[in-house]
Amino acid sequence: MKSFHSDTMKPTLKTLKLIPENKETPIHFLRNWITPSEYFYRRNHFKYPEITPQSFLLPIYGHVEAPLVFHHSYLKSMPSKKITMVLECSGNKRTYFEPKAYGEQWEDGAISHGIWKGVTLKSLLDMVVVKHGAKEIVFIGHDKGTRTDMEGIFHYARSLPIDVALQPDVLIAYELNGSTIPYEHGYPLRLIVPQWYGMASVKWLKEIQIIDHPFKGPFQTVDYVYYPHKANDLDARPVTNIKINSIIQQPLDYSILDTGTHEICGIAWSGHGSITTVELSFDNGSTWIKAKLSVDPKQKYSWTFWRYLWNVQKKGEYTILCRAEDSSGNVQPFEAEWNKKGYGFNAVYKVHIKIE
Ligand code: MTE
Repeated sequence: MKSFHSDTMKPTLKTLKLIPENKETPIHFLRNWITPSEYFYRRNHFKYPEITPQSFLLPIYGHVEAPLVFHHSYLKSMPSKKITMVLECSGNKRTYFEPKAYGEQWEDGAISHGIWKGVTLKSLLDMVVVKHGAKEIVFIGHDKGTRTDMEGIFHYARSLPIDVALQPDVLIAYELNGSTIPYEHGYPLRLIVPQWYGMASVKWLKEIQIIDHPFKGPFQTVDYVYYPHKANDLDARPVTNIKINSIIQQPLDYSILDTGTHEICGIAWSGHGSITTVELSFDNGSTWIKAKLSVDPKQKYSWTFWRYLWNVQKKGEYTILCRAEDSSGNVQPFEAEWNKKGYGFNAVYKVHIKIE
């Protein structure tokens, strides 16, 4: 697919923070089905970890019959699998919450789409023989540091319920887009969890522990939890699957266009199934018109490009709304569910256009 810009006008990542490095994909300017690795968004809680010989070993231990340490080269010799999928940070679009949610003010670009290659986690768990009574699998990253809300040094660590961990498309990955995983994205080994928000896909894997009780690490019990009320923590629930969502890539918000025909195009995605419909409204949601989708039915975890040819003859100001629906029947709401930490913003997308 062609990009909007010639080679001499390349988009760049947008910097939110340098240490730890947090940068957005220039999502409005990329029409690539697969996000080139240099354009992948970067989301880090700590400064990058050092790569040492230890980084190439992956111990799996805990509530198992036969703890094992896997070497990177051994994993690469095992049967492999490729998964093409959306990786989206649950804080993507946080900046749109009203009232504001505290945290990195991501706009639309904490999302990318890549091809990950690795071994299935299930094949490794079968080798260590998970004991009866195991509840969760904990993935610990090499990166570590302090938090503002607790004393101590913490590694980035998250768990998955055992039934999710055993799903056949959960990978211990060593390649992204046909090359070794870039350092920023988890080299040499990274967990990949399709359909879940990005926080689950732990980078720079240090070790995997099988436990028979719920994991209580702060990236599990403090962060990545929906707290729907400002005043208290009632009704808290964990952040898991990616919500139905979409963006209009072009035209950009507040564009001035001529009368005539314009292509409106964008992306839609969901962690609850494939995209079935993308609709646009030019009258604040009273009526909706279907956009044309480019769907590849073989790609279960991919995003979907869509477009619509808009013929506009009347000069004036327009608001264009866009909403997507997925195969589980989820539709983008007019208002996103507000939550204290600002996760999962997925309200109907809007751009304002002036025709002159
Ligand atoms: N893994 C480690 N070890 N450390 C991290 O800070 N961030 C998580 C996840 N895995 C993180 C991590 C979050 S919140 C997201 S959204 C994704 O990695 C971002 O992956 P990327 O930087 O490769 O785009």
